[in-house]
Amino acid sequence: MAELRTNQPGTTAAEKPIIVLAGSTGDLGRLIAKYLLARGAVVRALVRKGNTKPEVQALRELGASVVEVDFNSVIELTQVCAGAVCVVSALSGLRDVIFDTQKRLLDAAVVAGVPRFIPSDYSIDYTKLANGSNRNLDLRREFNQRLDQAPITATSVLNGMFTDLLTGQAPVVLFSLKRVMYYGDADQPMDFTTTDNTAEFTAAAALDPTTPRYLRVAGEVATIRGVQKAASEATGQQFGLLRVGGVWVLGAMIKATKALMPPSDDVFPPWQGMQYMHNMFTGLPKLQPLDNARYPDIRWTPIREVLATRK
Ligand SMILES: NC(=O)c1ccc[n+]([C@@H]2O[C@H](COP(=O)([O-])OP(=O)(O)OC[C@H]3O[C@@H](n4cnc5c(N)ncnc54)[C@H](OP(=O)(O)O)[C@@H]3O)[C@@H](O)[C@H]2O)c1
Repeated sequence: MAELRTNQPGTTAAEKPIIVLAGSTGDLGRLIAKYLLARGAVVRALVRKGNTKPEVQALRELGASVVEVDFNSVIELTQVCAGAVCVVSALSGLRDVIFDTQKRLLDAAVVAGVPRFIPSDYSIDYTKLANGSNRNLDLRREFNQRLDQAPITATSVLNGMFTDLLTGQAPVVLFSLKRVMYYGDADQPMDFTTTDNTAEFTAAAALDPTTPRYLRVAGEVATIRGVQKAASEATGQQFGLLRVGGVWVLGAMIKATKALMPPSDDVFPPWQGMQYMHNMFTGLPKLQPLDNARYPDIRWTPIREVLATRK
């Protein structure tokens, strides 16, 4: 395997920590692979059999050891986990992925004797939320309850909302109207971290044998007024606020949207994004305390910088 070779004279691949990475072709996974390699790890990037996406070749070019695997086979997963110091999951999906596939990956990691596991969480603090308030986070809470029973050291990375979503996907900064839209309290602090910073931190955590059960980071903690200021500074144009109503109004809109929409297997139907926003506006899943200083070489990207990149 490519991972058995090394360019460093006098070193063998055996001296480099091996990290198994699931979800390696995804937006976050590819960046985790990049940062793991930059930190000197051997990356076993798991990809589904027959995956011909350009991301697979990109992973090879980065220097990852791409391994095609049947994610339904605990036996195959156990073979690819052998010798690793940590299994990192950046999988995305619904129950069949977040619970079932991650469960097989977890079982494989345990059988292979891998000491540590990082599940695909990368979110607001779902441990503080009630069941039913966010479908995707309910699945993560359920998987983590299973993870806590397994004989393996688990670490979840919680990072709030990906700041990148503020440039378009999350309808908060309304660039054409020059307004920042919100529900509830404009002074409620919320956590934002870029995908890139989340990946960099996760890579550092994967290579750190002393991580606690939860690591919480925020590239920036901002209120809606803070987002308004960042948008104004990033664009050079004055943004105003647009308060649609109390948080309960958004809750009612989620119920109505869910009732009106046909059931679907979409990971992110419109009401799902609304559930994340609802959670954040309540303040319940606020991350505390923050572990930003744990790896001092990471430079946290502020919201203003992300908004300034919008074309
Ligand atoms: N906090 C936030 O604001 C925020 C925002 C976005 C994402 N996230 C989280 O970040 C994590 C990664 O998300 P992402 O956006 O990077 O996801 P993504 O780009 O959709 O990538 C998903 C990855 O999972 C793999 N995958 C999906 N179903 C699979 C299956 N059945 N078997 C094996 N592999 C499967 C995909 O492989 P293929 O290439 O084979 O499809 C891909 O590698 C998730 O936990 C997500 O919830 C957080």
